[in-house]
Amino acid sequence: MRMVDLIHKKQLGKALSTEEIQFMIEAYTEGTIPDYQMSAMLMAIYFEDMTDQERSDLTMSVVRSGDQIDLSAIEGVKVDKHSTGGVGDTTTLVLAPLVASLGVPIAKMSGRGLGHTGGTIDKLEAIPGFHVELTQEAFIELVNKYKVAVVGQSGNLTPADKKLYALRDVTSTVESIPLIASSIMGKKIAAGADAIVLDVKTGAGAFMKTTADAENLAKAMVKIGNHVGRNTMAVISDMSQPLGFAIGNALEVQEAIDTLKGNGPEDLVELCLTLGSQMAHLAGIGKDLEEARGLLKENLENGKALETFRTFVAAQGGDPNVTEDESLMPKARYQIGVAAPKDGYVAEIVADEIGVASMMLGAGRATKESEIDLAVGLMLHKKVGDRVQKGETLVTIHSNQENVKDVEAKILENMVIADAAEPLTLIHEVITE
Ligand code: URA
Ligand code: CA
Repeated sequence: MRMVDLIHKKQLGKALSTEEIQFMIEAYTEGTIPDYQMSAMLMAIYFEDMTDQERSDLTMSVVRSGDQIDLSAIEGVKVDKHSTGGVGDTTTLVLAPLVASLGVPIAKMSGRGLGHTGGTIDKLEAIPGFHVELTQEAFIELVNKYKVAVVGQSGNLTPADKKLYALRDVTSTVESIPLIASSIMGKKIAAGADAIVLDVKTGAGAFMKTTADAENLAKAMVKIGNHVGRNTMAVISDMSQPLGFAIGNALEVQEAIDTLKGNGPEDLVELCLTLGSQMAHLAGIGKDLEEARGLLKENLENGKALETFRTFVAAQGGDPNVTEDESLMPKARYQIGVAAPKDGYVAEIVADEIGVASMMLGAGRATKESEIDLAVGLMLHKKVGDRVQKGETLVTIHSNQENVKDVEAKILENMVIADAAEPLTLIHEVITE
């Protein structure tokens, strides 16, 4: 097989065979197909697209390019959740113990990553003593015993995706539905998921800026998952404003605890119940999504979800008393209020720009080497649609530096107050097949 022939075939808009895709991904990962040929192929895919069969084949070739995590020693259906990323997205911290409280095994492999705040692991490390350095055996044992554990990424998962993603980045071929969908699904499947729930975000703070693009991506991923034998569902959720009130690592852990106590922000609770009912349903709980949702709601109200969180934290070396004593978590030196400049209604809270404001405080990583300050971040007091009076606090800045003028300016620029505004729709669509 010659790569040049495959490039030509795709250039003519023809479908590549399973064998051709496997050959190309394997040889590219090994380094026998050079970047310049793969660049041409990526551009051909960008313009000519891929059939459903090709998309599934590409996903499974990405899975086979490296290690695959074997979770078969865990009893039950292993459901994983993936979010395409947003600002102040605290859902994993709530969902993992909440869904586990119904007996569904949650074996979460998580990263640190770049972004406005840390990844799930960074957030959890705001809990004193909590650690994610577990052997594969210890990880599986914890999931079997307590139904939920979180481990740091290890091993050589999907090396093909790492190489392809880096190449796409410099050849302007990131924004291609078949390439994004196979990249995301490949990583989830290699991490051992039997079933997958996807939270595809849309809006200013999301990778997909429009609902139409988010819907295309979600449908493509659900199709791939179901085609390769992993039951998959998706939700398209709004990320034009940040999710919940907290943006920052320790602040989001506190928000998750409040939510597990039944006192969470309305949007965060709604998203957790929507995604959680899909996860529970895929694991065989409840006769339909509605029943699964009811069971989750019960466990938020009766303390079982909170209890599962405490057990999970303690099992990984953390102090479970954080749920009762906020002072155990890192706290920023300064709390500085940002006042509303006028009367009106909050019309916009531009998610990505508010995320940048939290980065400026040190809550996130700009490069892989940057240190995160777990204590800092923002607490919103208002969401889109809320009425505000001049002088009222819109946001509290949690900072370890006294001068936050630039952060304050960034917030005021991106929290638009108008004469009238309506609350935003959170769940745009639920995709079950
Ligand atoms: N996120 C991924 O993991 N892969 C992509 O291709 C795009 C976003
Ligand atoms: Ca939040």
